Amino acid sequence: MESLGAVRKIIGGYYMDEIKNKFWAVGGGKGGVGKSIVSLLLGTSLARLGNKVMLVDADLGGSNLHTLVGIRYPKHTLADFINKRVETIDEVVMETPVENLKIICGADDILGMANPKYTQKTRLFNHLKRLDADLILLDLGAGTSFTTVDFFLYAPNKIVVLTPQITSIQNAYGFIKASLYRQLNETFGKDENAAELIKRAGNSVQGEAIDSISKLYDSFNALGEEYQQKMLQCIDNIKIKLIVNMVKDAKERNVGNIVKSVAKNYLALNLEDLGVVQYDNVLGSSINNMAEFLTKRRDSLASVNFYEMASNIIKNYLKPATACPPVSSVNR
Ligand SMILES: Nc1ncnc2c1ncn2[C@@H]1O[C@H](COP(=O)(O)OP(=O)(O)O)[C@@H](O)[C@H]1O
Ligand SMILES: [Mg+2]
Repeated sequence: MESLGAVRKIIGGYYMDEIKNKFWAVGGGKGGVGKSIVSLLLGTSLARLGNKVMLVDADLGGSNLHTLVGIRYPKHTLADFINKRVETIDEVVMETPVENLKIICGADDILGMANPKYTQKTRLFNHLKRLDADLILLDLGAGTSFTTVDFFLYAPNKIVVLTPQITSIQNAYGFIKASLYRQLNETFGKDENAAELIKRAGNSVQGEAIDSISKLYDSFNALGEEYQQKMLQCIDNIKIKLIVNMVKDAKERNVGNIVKSVAKNYLALNLEDLGVVQYDNVLGSSINNMAEFLTKRRDSLASVNFYEMASNIIKNYLKPATACPPVSSVNR
């Protein structure tokens, strides 16, 4: 039987369309690693490079993105949309201090909001799709709740933020694993035989019979080739990019390789590097006044890192219509 790696090469390819470029989710499993900062500063750089960017605070249990853009009491939030107090999502969009950068503020004030129902999520995604934006950045909460993982899986461009801390590395891997198994469950959920094998693999510990995706793939052989094909497609659609944040020295720049190697060995996922963000004292001490940081500290370490990352995203992922303007016209 062909190995998992060999068959994946045959399937190859990835469908590019407008939605693929538009949706970006920023997750990472652990709180405090910089998911919201990444959403905000990456969004700011992308906006300054000429893209219409929408920040969506999808941390439904602990939203605070609005505070970071200087909005103390949001007039409209995602809760207004989810609870149908407004007809369309445009009605909850708010301005930020940065031109081209808008925000949909989070909603942790409503009981049960952290776990919206399937129909609520579907309505939300349908409306988000139609928003007038080149790029939508979903800032996710910590943990691996179904809602957080579903937001992550919905976005074709998936960013995982981690820091050099060992706990962050572990949580980043745990988040990626939870996402992959959630996707496999969604794909095969109604099929009891497949679901049983996925469950065994998802719960197994190293050394047990099915302790990796490649062994799960082999075990799917008993169910039929079409199961294996479907599984490969499912895995190949999960494209994850890593950002290592709060890096203090050259050694720490490489911690992404640890997650990449474990994800390759146990989950058959090839993670990409999106970039590294240095630990930035100016940013750390500006957290209570990010509006000023955004306008006055474009030369800080992290600001420069995000500007470069945004330029690469534009070059590598966005369509020519939203490409970077000539350098001479860009005022960093
Ligand atoms: N590159 C960095 N350098 C210094 N401090 C940072 C950096 N990135 C994030 N921080 C700080 O870490 C804290 C947590 O960031 P936040 O984006 O709220 O994390 P999360 O959204 O993952 O919970 C903030 O106080 C922020 O100022
Ligand atoms: Mg956050």
